[in-house]
Amino acid sequence: MDLTSLSNQFDQKIINKLGLSRAKNKLVGHGYIAGLKALVKVLNIPKPTVFTGKNASLKMCESLSGFGLRRVLVVTDQALYDLGVIDQILQKLEQLGVQYSLFTEVEPDPTFLVVEKGLKRYRADNCDSVLAIGGGSSIDAAKVVALAASNEVEPSALVGILKAKKASAPFFAIPTTAGTGSEVTIGAVISDTKTHKKEIVIETKTVPLMAALDPELMKGLPPAITAATGMDALTHLVESHLSTMANDESCYYSRAGVKLVFKNLRLAYKRGTNMKARENMALASFYGGLTINLAGLGYVHAFAHQLGARYRIPHGLSNAKVLPHILEFNKDVCAPQLADLARVIDVAHVGDSEGQAAQRFIDAVKQLIDDLGIDPTVKDIKLNDVDAIRFDAFKEANSTYALPKYMSSDEADALLVRIAGRAH
Ligand SMILES: NC(=O)c1ccc[n+]([C@@H]2O[C@H](COP(=O)([O-])OP(=O)(O)OC[C@H]3O[C@@H](n4cnc5c(N)ncnc54)[C@H](O)[C@@H]3O)[C@@H](O)[C@H]2O)c1
Ligand SMILES: [Fe+2]
Repeated sequence: MDLTSLSNQFDQKIINKLGLSRAKNKLVGHGYIAGLKALVKVLNIPKPTVFTGKNASLKMCESLSGFGLRRVLVVTDQALYDLGVIDQILQKLEQLGVQYSLFTEVEPDPTFLVVEKGLKRYRADNCDSVLAIGGGSSIDAAKVVALAASNEVEPSALVGILKAKKASAPFFAIPTTAGTGSEVTIGAVISDTKTHKKEIVIETKTVPLMAALDPELMKGLPPAITAATGMDALTHLVESHLSTMANDESCYYSRAGVKLVFKNLRLAYKRGTNMKARENMALASFYGGLTINLAGLGYVHAFAHQLGARYRIPHGLSNAKVLPHILEFNKDVCAPQLADLARVIDVAHVGDSEGQAAQRFIDAVKQLIDDLGIDPTVKDIKLNDVDAIRFDAFKEANSTYALPKYMSSDEADALLVRIAGRAH
């Protein structure tokens, strides 16, 4: 199979002619997803070497020092640096004699401008490798710096599916949030500098060589960010379980991750210094990344991306606000998968029908959102914005995700009204 021609098919702008009825969505979506399924079958998706547990990040640095690198660009954000979260890692690199340059300009939901600045720094300092330390924003920005550097292209040229010709510069990742799973995914989300619309780079070459899941780095993560990022992990684990591309391997990760989230997220939220809860959430997030590599996402992310960009809502939070509504929307066609998750988290009752068990899982998700103190609504949604949100969400969903059920325009509008908290 010719991967380039297959990938180019995804670029056809037929989506621009997209009508908004369910049938049209299904037609366009099925066309894309048939290609995507064929592509995933022949793709070889690598996995990083993973270090886990206390001091995992320091152990990874020891391994990194054996790579004979000239100079590593450390990509992080200023807040993390100021909090001292990465101090020990930098000290370790110094002890080991690893030369590095520090780039701390990443901001939440990084833009191409930030990535371009990072790339400029990489080149000016004659770096040959990249180490991301931070949440999904730092890891995604670093991924694209490393890929653009080795491919000698502008970062925006990497948007789309499999756009890189050459391997990434050696890339390593240390997540400090437990949510995105970006330390293992083939994706990077970078926002348009002016519109803040999210663009997605999908490329197997972005998977890091090594990743460290170190709970020590997460113990100071504030409760609200713990909750939001944890809900991002849960959304990855659940959306991929409902995807028509789910397979035995992805379902294995989804089940294991969902169980970890329900057992640990409340505790990590309430008692951030509980290392076991932090470690288990880091693992859940990692499983979330593994499962989306195989099965992808769905309408939750498609709508959450639009709401997040438009109303500046953190990624995990916007997912949490959309997730219960999409589960309700999907429950007639996804009852077996939702019931399966209800059994995984022990909320199904003996004798429940698949539909009843599915509803118990959805209710457990709603309860979790409530327990985490998350406002389930987006009150800012304006009637005038609905057409654009719907159009962009359908465009993203139809061209990227293997949806179990397609939506009509009316259903999308009703969904947005409910998320705005104006109807039940
Ligand atoms: N590549 C992927 O597969 C993927 C998947 C999902 C989401 N994303 C993207 O990831 C981004 C969101 O990443 P995120 O949710 O991890 O948040 P983030 O990286 O934007 O960080 C959020 C905030 O938390 C702070 N923070 C991070 N770690 C901390 C710690 N240990 N202690 C104290 N403060 C800490 C940061 O300074 C920042 O202010 C979005 O752009 C989203 O689109 C990517
Ligand atoms: Fe996400």
